[in-house]
Formats: sequence, structure tokens, C-alpha cells
Amino acid sequence: VNASLGNIETDMGAALHSLQGRAESIFCERFGSDPSWVTAAPGRVNIIGEHIDYNDGFVLPMTIQRYACIAAGPAANPSPGRLCSIYSETLDELVAVETDYDESATTPGWVRYIRGVLAGCDQLDMRPDEFDCVVVSSVPLGGGLSSSAALEVATATLVEAMCNSKLDPLQKARLCQTAEHDYAGVPCGLMDQYAAVFGSDSDLILMDCRDETSTNVVFDDPSVSLLVFDTNVKHDLATDEYGARRAECSNAADVLGVQSLRDVDVARLDDAQSKLDESLFRRTRHVVTETARALDTAQWIRDRNWAAAGEAMYASHESLRSDYEVSCPELDAAIELAQKLSGVYGARMTGGGFGGCAILLVDSSAASKVGAELARVYKADTGISGMWFATRPGGGARVLRRPANAGDGHTDLEFE
Ligand code: GLA
Repeated sequence: VNASLGNIETDMGAALHSLQGRAESIFCERFGSDPSWVTAAPGRVNIIGEHIDYNDGFVLPMTIQRYACIAAGPAANPSPGRLCSIYSETLDELVAVETDYDESATTPGWVRYIRGVLAGCDQLDMRPDEFDCVVVSSVPLGGGLSSSAALEVATATLVEAMCNSKLDPLQKARLCQTAEHDYAGVPCGLMDQYAAVFGSDSDLILMDCRDETSTNVVFDDPSVSLLVFDTNVKHDLATDEYGARRAECSNAADVLGVQSLRDVDVARLDDAQSKLDESLFRRTRHVVTETARALDTAQWIRDRNWAAAGEAMYASHESLRSDYEVSCPELDAAIELAQKLSGVYGARMTGGGFGGCAILLVDSSAASKVGAELARVYKADTGISGMWFATRPGGGARVLRRPANAGDGHTDLEFE
């Protein structure tokens, strides 16, 4: 991807509208009629609180103005035993999904997410008639921006629309998380799916991962912007190491005699050090200090104290790099280079790590310059073309189109 693709998108409506238009016209080309339903769900960045969701602590995600969008209609050529036919624009693949799911089959990863959500809905007796659909996405794939959660939540939203029935939002997020665990084999926490369901178009989501509730943190000061910088690398060990970190955290909690590392506070770290081996202690120190940073940062953002929030982002990155060991040389290079640019308050990796995206909190008047300059120096340093964009909060999952008569007799339905 060319670094010159970097851009400033501030109009969520426009970004989504053009994606919807693309999904609808591809649907029409492929299946010969207009789609009846269109749904979308956003990707996310996590401002701070990384690798904290599965430790029951606090995380601070923000949805982005990048979406997975699905256009669907009744099957043009229905076939017994088939649930749906899906065309992915990004991968240029058409896949038929059968009722009998063969786990050993070489089902492409993106189909597994959809299949998993359909299975979860089926268990709740939400079974749409056979349908055709087209999936388009502006969330970069494999970049740590939760393109998979966006696809899962857009699928669940589609099933809701097709069945004229709404899931409880938390149950919806959990259903999508289960799809990712059981069908894609990724033991993720709940943050990504929760953000895609509960996302706001002006706020960050401060989520308490123990009781699975959240409060919003307003993020609407026009003088600061959030830049996403994609390092364009993804190291293979991501999934294995993710599972390994989860196991280490749960071991550490067992040794310390607590339910989860959420229950250890900063003041107890010395005591923890005497009980844990060196490596488990470093994992614990990350979780404990990062949880505290997430809460502090939420307050600093409320206070518009961008300098303090930015410092916490740098501290978070350092902790993920040295204590939690989930960064990589390319992410470290991007953060180190960003730190030298004027107009940058703070920067850190976002998401699971081992590649993917960095985020930068920047002065809006410097945003374009910072993005372009970071892409230039990153290329000079690593030889890799990074890609950047600016984003504001991207809202939550929504239905963009449904049949004119949908909801007749169902006045209790409230589609976004
Ligand atoms: C991935 C997972 C999330 C979370 C982050 C790290 O994105 O899907 O649940 O654990 O990594 O914060």
C-alpha cells in the first residue's frame, strides 16, 4: 500500500455511504437484483489498556471510521441444505455455506467468522431464510484493527434485521466472541466485539471487563486527532503468543491467590515480585500498571490533558515491549520515530501486537504532516511502506437498509 494513500477522513457519513454504495452495486452485479438489507460494523483501535480485557481490567477502545459492510437479499437460486452464498470483494471469492458445517474443510478464515455467528444465532432460534450476500470492508485486514470483530458484528446485525428480532447487545457481543473462539480458534477477550456493538460516534468506551459494562468518555475536541499508522507487517506468532500470554496471566493469578490480575493493585507489586518468577512478574507488572494507566488516561482525556494522556501511551508501549513482549521491531521503530515528530502527544501499538497498527495522538493542525512524515521516515528506516489515516470515533453497528415493510407489526423494534 502506498504511503501517499494517507488521508484525513472526518465525515463518518461519507465514508460509510460510499462503502454501502459499493456493497450494493457489487450485490446487484453478482446476484442480479438490489439487496434487501445492508448492515455495517466498525473496526476499532484501543487507546490504552492492552492485553487487559482477559484480565478483567479496564480498556479504552474507540471505534474507527472503517467498516465491514454486508449487503444481502433472499437467495436468487435457493439450494436445499444451503444457508447462504457469500461473495467477498476483498478476496474476490464466492463461497457457499452449507448447513452441515465440515470443520475439517478448508473453509477460508473470513467465512468461519460468518459461519460462527450464524451458528450462534441458530442456537437462539434466529434462522434467516437462505440468502445471498456481498461483504466489503474498509478495515485493513490483519492490522490489529479488529476486521474480524467488525465482520462478526455486521453479520449478527444482518441476522437481526433479516429475522426482525433484536439480540440483547451484550449477548450479541458475546455471541460474536464465541464465534471467534469456536470457529476461528482465536481465544480473544470481549473488547473488540463489545466496541463494535456499543461504539459511539463521539466517544471512547471505557469498559470494565469484569462486569462487562462501560461508560463513555467524550472525545470531541477538534484540536486533537487520532492517527492510525499501519506498519504493514504481521508476524506469524501472534495467535500462539496470545494464547501463551493468557495462560501466563492465569498462572500468575493462581500463584498470587487472586481471581484475576485485576485484583492486584500497584501497591501490591513488591509482594507479587517475591512470589513470582522473573518472567511471570514482568507479565503481571504490565497488567497491573496498564490497568492503572487506562483509568488515569480516561480521566486525562475527560480533562483534555493531552500531554498526560500522550505520556501514558508511550509508557504503555514501553510496558508492552519490555514487560509483556508483544511488540516487534517495526512497531518499536514507528513509535520511536513518531516520538521525534513535533505535534505528537503520544503513540503506542494497538491491538494484540506482533505487527499491525500503531496509534498516535496528535495536534490536529499537524496531523497530515505527521502522517506523511512518519510514513517517510519509517520507510527510510525499515524499507517498508506504511499506511496511515486519521479517524474520529466511528459509531457502532447499524442497519443501513432494510425492506420498506420490515418491522410491520413489530413496532417494538428499534433499528439504529
Ligand atoms: C486482540 C483481542 C482482544 C484483546 C487485544 C489485546 O485484539 O481480540 O480481545 O485482548 O488483542 O488488548
